Amino acid sequence: MQPKMITLTVNGRKHQVALNPDETLLNALRQLNYTDVKNGCEKGDCGACAVLLNGKAVNSCLVLAWQADGSEILTNAGLGTMDNPHPIQEAFADAGAAQCGYCTPGMIISAKALLDQNPHPSEEEIREAISGNLCRCTGYAQIITAIQIAAERIAASALVGSGQGGKQ
Ligand code: FES
Ligand code: FES
Repeated sequence: MQPKMITLTVNGRKHQVALNPDETLLNALRQLNYTDVKNGCEKGDCGACAVLLNGKAVNSCLVLAWQADGSEILTNAGLGTMDNPHPIQEAFADAGAAQCGYCTPGMIISAKALLDQNPHPSEEEIREAISGNLCRCTGYAQIITAIQIAAERIAASALVGSGQGGKQ
């Protein structure tokens, strides 16, 4: 199989890489050192490898890298840093929603995809959004709480940003 040259923009950084046509996006990202994208099952069952592909959450183990040629990819590491976390990442820390942490990057990506589409999700909608993400540690309660906290904080900061927040 001849390697194929493709371009992936990951967390705002452009990469041109030669990859075999059967290489998954998961493997390509991990080879590029985006190791926050976790390899759990490689068959679409666990959600640990979730990334945003042009804004849509996908399991990167189910996407061939060439299918993402020319796309924008966002991983959990691209959302924020330890010093400047995204509100979803901060809420996961505050709610104790990350224990071993293996599922956390994929959970946060699913939460981001949900809140981008639906800023005020019900508990049922949150459960549905993370239904493809397996967690062995938390029992999901803290994860759901974290996403509810993140939704409140994002909504509050949007109000402040629009000048409608502040003191009553
Ligand atoms: S590694 Fe992709 S869904 Fe499990
Ligand atoms: S925190 Fe361990 S798998 Fe979710």
